Formats: sequence, structure tokens, C-alpha cells
Amino acid sequence: MKKIKSTFEFLVFESFEELSMEDQKLMNSAIEARKNAYAPYSNFKVGAAVLLDNNEVVIGNNQENASYPSGLCAERVAVFQAGAKFPGIVINKVAITATSEKYEVAKPAAPCGNCRQSMVEYEQKQKAPIEILMMGEKGKIIKCNSITDILPFAFDNSFL
Ligand code: THU
Repeated sequence: MKKIKSTFEFLVFESFEELSMEDQKLMNSAIEARKNAYAPYSNFKVGAAVLLDNNEVVIGNNQENASYPSGLCAERVAVFQAGAKFPGIVINKVAITATSEKYEVAKPAAPCGNCRQSMVEYEQKQKAPIEILMMGEKGKIIKCNSITDILPFAFDNSFL
């Protein structure tokens, strides 16, 4: 038996203004996307913006459904849309932000497990990491270097 320790590094920004201009621009696209979320059941609106290697930005927002599990998260709407529109183009970054009609979201919105699993597939397909920027409405912003960092032991096609 041996014990293995796994660690990862991430950046914490105190405010939006601390981000690079490129990251601010991408996060602004996610903020815009957030406004068009269809979230009548949770009132929790999420926006995502994907930056591709060809400099295109593809956005997504959560799309809810009266049959709750039929809805989809913002990140998957964005990443699937990128895959559909720009197949084969590497995804460099995904910016995520959330707002609620019930309270002020003051902590970074983290992608759910299903979204991490979906995004890790793209990371493996393109053999390059995808950076993730997470933000609420205000407060700190977290930047991770890759989806794999936040989904260790991911299920992938090597099992199939
Ligand atoms: N949601 C996202 O869009 N992304 C996530 O990673 C977490 C949750 C959405 C799904 C649902 O419409 C609402 O937030 C509340 O769960």
C-alpha cells in the first residue's frame, strides 16, 4: 500500500478588475449570456462563455424545463454549441458567472459534476487543458488551469 498526495494550484482574484483584459472580456460575455438564461424554476441564472483558439466566443446559459432533469446547465449549452459550430477547434477557456433573483451570489459559481465530466471529454479530445474562470455576481474570482484539476479520476474513453 502506498499513500499518494494530489494537489493543484489555482488563482484567486479579489475583483473583476484584477483579471487580464482578455479574461475580463470573456467574463463580460458570460455576464451578457447570464441575462438570457431561462431559469423560471430556480431563479438562478448562469452564463458561460467559451473562448476558442480561433478567437471566436461561444456563449451559453442554463435552460430549465418543467421536467427538471430535462434542463441543461450553461456550461454544457456553451461547450456543446462550440462543438457543434466549430468542430475540431481547441477550447482555450470557459468563463462562468451566476446571479440569483433571491439573493446576491457573492462566491464563484463552480461547474456541477455533470458539466465537469462533459468538459473533461473536450479537454481529452483536444489534448490541451481548458482554463476555467468562476465568478458570482461580485466578490472573488477563481481561475483554474484545467478541468482535470477539478475532476480527478474522471471517467473517460480509456475505460470503454
Ligand atoms: N446550473 C448551471 O447552469 N451550471 C452549473 O454548473 C450549476 C447549475 C444551473 C442548473 C439550474 O438551471 C440552476 O443552475 C440551478 O441548479
